[in-house]
This record gives sequence, structure tokens and C-alpha cells, in this order.
Amino acid sequence: MKLSITSQNVRNFTRALKNMGVDAYIFDRGAPMTILKLRKEVRQCMKCALAATRRNVVFGEGDVNAQLVFVGEAPGEEEDIQGRPFVGRAGKLLDQLIERIGLGRGDVYICNVLKCRPPGNRDPEEQEREACKGYLFTQLELINPKIICTLGRHAYNTLLGVDERITRVRGVLTSYHGIPLLPTYHPSFLLRNQDKIKEAWEDMEKLKQLLRK
Ligand code: URA
Ligand code: SF4
Repeated sequence: MKLSITSQNVRNFTRALKNMGVDAYIFDRGAPMTILKLRKEVRQCMKCALAATRRNVVFGEGDVNAQLVFVGEAPGEEEDIQGRPFVGRAGKLLDQLIERIGLGRGDVYICNVLKCRPPGNRDPEEQEREACKGYLFTQLELINPKIICTLGRHAYNTLLGVDERITRVRGVLTSYHGIPLLPTYHPSFLLRNQDKIKEAWEDMEKLKQLLRK
């Protein structure tokens, strides 16, 4: 018998294991890596200058077996204080978006490109994204969701290795290592541009349909 190992096969296999209640792990330089181990590692990270100004590392939270993962940009002030993603004003709006899918926060997984807050909520710098993105990649590999929803341009560009404007790509389904990826606006942008909220609702409807498939 010929067995070809593709990333899709591996994903289906790990999903089947997860459904049986077996904790997911991948091998990282020969050693098993779990989401808890990764979290411990990231909490001690000093790989970029943001380590010096952060109050807390914001690793991410939610269901580690979630079918849907949201990826934001970076922690803001409230997130930095609490050590949790999307707990400020933008977080309230994200909660509402999740509700439109018919889900709650606990049903999904929420994380960011950067795990530490850029001072004054400035945009992530190139070297910070480079230093941090491996954690996000491993996180997604471990969670192995059915769908990824990126919030704003930074998450989209980091995952796909491109440099696109969000207004050009939003709502257009693409994929990340075989996992369907739907980009939508960042909730902070939606707070400033309320006329765009209808498009975000449409994206949530699309996510709902995709999750049903
Ligand atoms: N904005 C983000 O991108 N992430 C958060 O966690 C909070 C606000
Ligand atoms: Fe490490 Fe990422 Fe925090 Fe930089 S932002 S210190 S790379 S966890």
C-alpha cells in the first residue's frame, strides 16, 4: 500500500484524534509541543523590544479545539493589563460579531499576531512581526481549525506573507496551508467607520455558512 503524507492528511488525522479526546501535539525539533508548552514559552519571550514595555504577554484564549480562530493585530492597553485578547472596546465589538455567527467567545479561539503591546498602540514593526510570527504559526498548527478569520491587514499580511490593503481583500475567501481563511475588517477600524459594519456582518454570515459545511 502506498501512503502519501500530505498536510491535509495530517490535519484530518489530528482532528480525528482530537474528536476522540486525545490532546493535539506536533513535533517541534523532535520534541512534542502542546499549546500549554507554547504558552509557557511565549510568556517568557524576550525576542523583541516589546518585552521591555509589556505588562503582560497576551498569548490568546478560547477553545483550543475550536473550529474557528480569529487573529487580530496586537494587544492594546486593556489587553496588556489583563493579559487577555480583545477585552477592550474593540473586544466588545468582536463579541458582537461572534454572536452574529451564533457562537460565543468560548466556542472560538482568539489571538493576535503580536503577543505584546506596542507602546501607544502603534502599528507593529517589521522586526516585531518577524520575531513573533512563528508563535502564531505554531498556535494555528496546534489548534488546526476548520476556518481562520483575520481581523485587519496585519493578520492577513502576516499569515499570507503579502502586503495587501484590507479594503481590497476583505470578504474574499482564500486559504492558509489548506485552511480556508476569510479576511474581515479589524473591530477598531469598524468603531471608527460604522458604515462598514454591514460588510463585517456579511462576513460573519459567510463564516456561519462555512462552518456548517
Ligand atoms: N486589538 C487587537 O488587534 N487585538 C487585541 O487583542 C485587542 C485589540
Ligand atoms: Fe516575544 Fe512576540 Fe512579545 Fe516580541 S511581541 S517579546 S517576539 S512574544
